[in-house]
Amino acid sequence: MQAFDILNAGRIVPVMVVEEAKDAVPLARALVQGGIQVLEITLRTKEALGAIEWISQEVPEAVVGAGTVLSALDFKKAQEAGAKFAISPGFTLALANASKESQIPLIPGVASASEVMLALEHGFKHLKFFPAQAAGGVAMLKSFAGPFKEVYFCPTGGISLENMEAYLKLDNVLCVGGSWLAPREFVQAKEWAKITQIAQKSVAAAGGI
Ligand code: 3PG
Repeated sequence: MQAFDILNAGRIVPVMVVEEAKDAVPLARALVQGGIQVLEITLRTKEALGAIEWISQEVPEAVVGAGTVLSALDFKKAQEAGAKFAISPGFTLALANASKESQIPLIPGVASASEVMLALEHGFKHLKFFPAQAAGGVAMLKSFAGPFKEVYFCPTGGISLENMEAYLKLDNVLCVGGSWLAPREFVQAKEWAKITQIAQKSVAAAGGI
């Protein structure tokens, strides 16, 4: 899948912090059951790569990718674990080069006009806007729409069920990402049904936008 297909597959991407790889499969299944397809596992825990591996093998309905990809080595490890895409919080040349030599797309993060221009210079036009709320939110994305006509964003960072509508209404936003879909306390307590409910509620709310 190309970056566009990934960001266009659904309107909400859960950003997940998985502490224990054995939770990854039931968590992914709970989200898929709630109507979510694309999942981002952040490389912020020791077991994140294991979680990606489990999901890619056991939950074929999901499109699992790696988030918090900070280096070319992270990128390589994520691909080896079975990630279908890589998302980074920012843009670096090392990451851009790593993605050019790889089979899976990179969705780099940007937070300024200069960074969008740098990403465009390297051929990336499907970008993460991070940290969305802190970096100017909806107003910033509306301003980006003027100069950057063919650039599409997945804002993440501070997005919630309450504020996602304002983002999803924008023509240059394909989807939003956030951690509200997989709250840590529900994962720790293995409250999979509650996670399915959050996903269903979020997907239903996004469907009307
Ligand atoms: C990310 O990496 O995209 C963010 O940490 C998600 O931010 P949130 O926790 O505010 O949803």
